[in-house]
Amino acid sequence: MTQPMLEVTGAVKAFGTVTALSGVDLAVPPGRIAALLGPNGAGKTTLVRIVATLARPDAGVIRVAGYDVVADPYAVRARIGLTGQYAGLDEALSGRANLMLIGRLAGLSRQTARERAAELIDRFDLAAAAGRPVGTYSGGMRRRADLAASLMARPSLLVLDEPTTGLDPAGRRQVWASLAALRAEGTAMLLTTQYLEEAERLADLVHILDQGRMVASGTPAQLRARTGTQLVEARFEPASVVPAAARALAARLGLPPDGVHADPASGWLTVAARDGVGTLLEVARALAADGFAVADLGLRGPTLDEAFLALTGQHAVGRAAS
Ligand SMILES: Nc1ncnc2c1ncn2[C@@H]1O[C@H](COP(=O)(O)OP(=O)(O)OP(=O)(O)O)[C@@H](O)[C@H]1O
Ligand SMILES: [Mg+2]
Repeated sequence: MTQPMLEVTGAVKAFGTVTALSGVDLAVPPGRIAALLGPNGAGKTTLVRIVATLARPDAGVIRVAGYDVVADPYAVRARIGLTGQYAGLDEALSGRANLMLIGRLAGLSRQTARERAAELIDRFDLAAAAGRPVGTYSGGMRRRADLAASLMARPSLLVLDEPTTGLDPAGRRQVWASLAALRAEGTAMLLTTQYLEEAERLADLVHILDQGRMVASGTPAQLRARTGTQLVEARFEPASVVPAAARALAARLGLPPDGVHADPASGWLTVAARDGVGTLLEVARALAADGFAVADLGLRGPTLDEAFLALTGQHAVGRAAS
C-alpha cells in the first residue's frame, strides 16, 4: 500500500464550549481528491487549518506525507500548498510580484521562482494582468492567482478551502479544469466545498461533515445510494396538468394525496419507487389509463443533493435540479 499523502485520525478541536471537530478520520492517497462537504459551521475550515499547521489539534494524529503536523510543522509546510477561504495575496503587489515573493519565501532561487511564476501565470491565464496590483483583480482572477501562489513550491498536497465560492459558472469551470489537470499530474488534494456539484465533478471520495462529526464517507455514487430510495419521475406538458395527474396517480396507486409530489412550476411529479422498475411500469399504466400524456418518464437514484440533505438531517425543498 502506498502511503497516504494526508492521514487524519481522530482529529478533535474545541473552541471554548464549541466543539468544531469531534474525532474526524480521513485519508487522501497520492493523486486523489477528497472533498469535505458540510453546512456552515461544520468544521471544514478548522480541519483545513489544522492540516496546514495554522491551528493545533486538541487530540488526534494528522500526517502529511508521513510528517506529523504538530511534531514536524516545517516538513509539513514544505509539502503543502494552501488556498484559503479568504484570499491571502498582497493587494498592493502585482500578481507576478506576489508569486515571486511566495516562491522566494519557499526557498526557491530568484531564477527558479521567476520561471515557475511565468509558467503558472501562463497556465492560469493571468498574462494580461500579471503586472498590475492584485487589488485591481476580479474575484475569478484573484482565485486563479491564489491557486497559482499555492502551487509555486510544487506541493505534494494541495489544501483548498472553498476554491470556487463567489465565482461565476465560467470561473468555476476554469478552476475545476485546473484542479483536474493537477490531479492528473499526481497532486493530492483536500478541498472543502458547499457545492455538491463540485464534489461530484472533482472528488474521488466525498466526506460529509456535520457539527464536527463525519456523518458519511464514500464515492459520490456510494453516497447517493445511502439514501436508498429510487424515484419515478414523470413530466407533463403543459406543466399545469401536473396537479391533476398527481391526484389521479395517487388514487390509482392507493397512496395518500401527498404520496405523489407535484411541481407545477416544472411540470414534474415524483413518487417513491418502492418496487423499482415495477413501480415505473405501474405509474406508466396508471397515467395512460387516466388519459394523461407523459412527456418524459424515468426511474432515477437520489441525487447527491438529496443524499446530503438526508445525511445531515436537513430537508430537501421540492425537486432537486437534475
Ligand atoms: N477561532 C475560533 N474561535 C472560536 N470558535 C471558532 C473558531 N474557529 C471556528 N470556530 C467555530 O467552530 C465551528 C466550526 O467552524 P469552521 O470555520 O471550521 O466551519 P466551516 O465548516 O468552515 O463553516 P463555513 O462553511 O461557514 O466556512 C463554528 O461553530 C465556528 O464558530
Ligand atoms: Mg469555512
